[in-house]
Amino acid sequence: MITITFILNDGTRHSIDAESEANVMQVATFNDVRGIEGACGGFCSCATCHVYVESAHALPAPAADEETMLTGTAAKRESNSRLACQLKLGPELDGLVVRMPEVQ
Ligand code: FES
Repeated sequence: MITITFILNDGTRHSIDAESEANVMQVATFNDVRGIEGACGGFCSCATCHVYVESAHALPAPAADEETMLTGTAAKRESNSRLACQLKLGPELDGLVVRMPEVQ
């Protein structure tokens, strides 16, 4: 089991034990976490799953399509910005902490 923590805009933290979801966007949307829409269903074409990675996990660099969406579409991109749908669940993500942007 993998635990992912989401920090909402009001500072509320939601820690979720993920079992069957494929990526971090699905963990949020399947568990009714506010702040991630996932409008395109995880096809890397909407950027409504933008998050800031707050934990010190060594994540692979964004692929070209994620980089394009972060640069062109995500509001207020920061150095730790990622698209949650592109963060595939695996043991290396256990303990991941992500913060929601003010707007998607
Ligand atoms: S859900 Fe659309 S880019 Fe992630």
